[in-house]
Amino acid sequence: MLDPALIADLRAARRIVVFTGAGMSAESGIPTFRERLTGLWAQVDPMEIATPWAFRADPQRVWDWHVHLAEAVRAARPNAGHEAIAALEQAGLDVTVITQNVDALHHRAGSRAVVELHGNLLRLKSFVDEEAAFAAASPTICRACDGYAVWESCDPYADRSDLAAIELRAGAVPRCPGCGALLRPDVVWFGEPLAVEAIEAAWNAVDRCDVLFAVGASLEVEPAASLPWRALARGARVIEVNPSPTELVGQCHAGIRGGAAEVLPELFGIIWPSR
Ligand code: OAD
Repeated sequence: MLDPALIADLRAARRIVVFTGAGMSAESGIPTFRERLTGLWAQVDPMEIATPWAFRADPQRVWDWHVHLAEAVRAARPNAGHEAIAALEQAGLDVTVITQNVDALHHRAGSRAVVELHGNLLRLKSFVDEEAAFAAASPTICRACDGYAVWESCDPYADRSDLAAIELRAGAVPRCPGCGALLRPDVVWFGEPLAVEAIEAAWNAVDRCDVLFAVGASLEVEPAASLPWRALARGARVIEVNPSPTELVGQCHAGIRGGAAEVLPELFGIIWPSR
């Protein structure tokens, strides 16, 4: 599978990053986004379903689409690839997972050091209309959702546990129990920035790593897509695992063609046979 000299380098690595995209969860039954026939974006234009403008125009349609995806996520189980990554961390290696996935399957497999670049589908937050909140005389921060809210219309007794009790399920779009704002999944839509803490944590891990595995990512969406290239530029060993290699494969140290659930347990077994 790999050149012996490269295996020796990988084995000597002190800090490992596993950077994952939708292909990581494909074998768990969650569709990817850009595959020509089966990808989610082959069925619907993301601009109509995954932007703040789409939500403002038709919150129910955007909510209903995410409910569908949430059902797939709830039905999914971590696959052998997620488990192999978690096992490395549990064996004492310094592993950081940086994922674009919003399905929390890395957490469910037992990984603890996980940076969720694009958020978490099953967590909700409020859709804050900042213009309206600041137009009011005394905007405040809602105690339930942490969003800007109009002080006079906020319930002072609502707190975060009231919000946490609401789930992404079929039905009318729910509202924040504190300020009444519409709720939405806590994911990054097109046209929205990544959380500063998430991208900083990712840069930190990438800048310190000796090896980065890029697994199941098309590398089409920035700023996440630049992370493997950043690791390469910093001198880390970079290995791609993907049944359809990206342009990274021409520049990185090895490309392994195959599915994550099939390749990762075997690959890690070769690199770290005693773990
Ligand atoms: P894509 O759908 O763009 O790419 C999925 C990648 O997974 C492709 O390169 C496939 O070849 C590969 N793949 C398919 N099956 C695989 C398997 N079994 N094992 C390993 N790889 C496999 O998904 P992402 O790159 O994750 O953004 O897309 C990036 C972002 O675009 C997503 O996070 C999402 C989307 O819009 C947000 O939700 C904000």
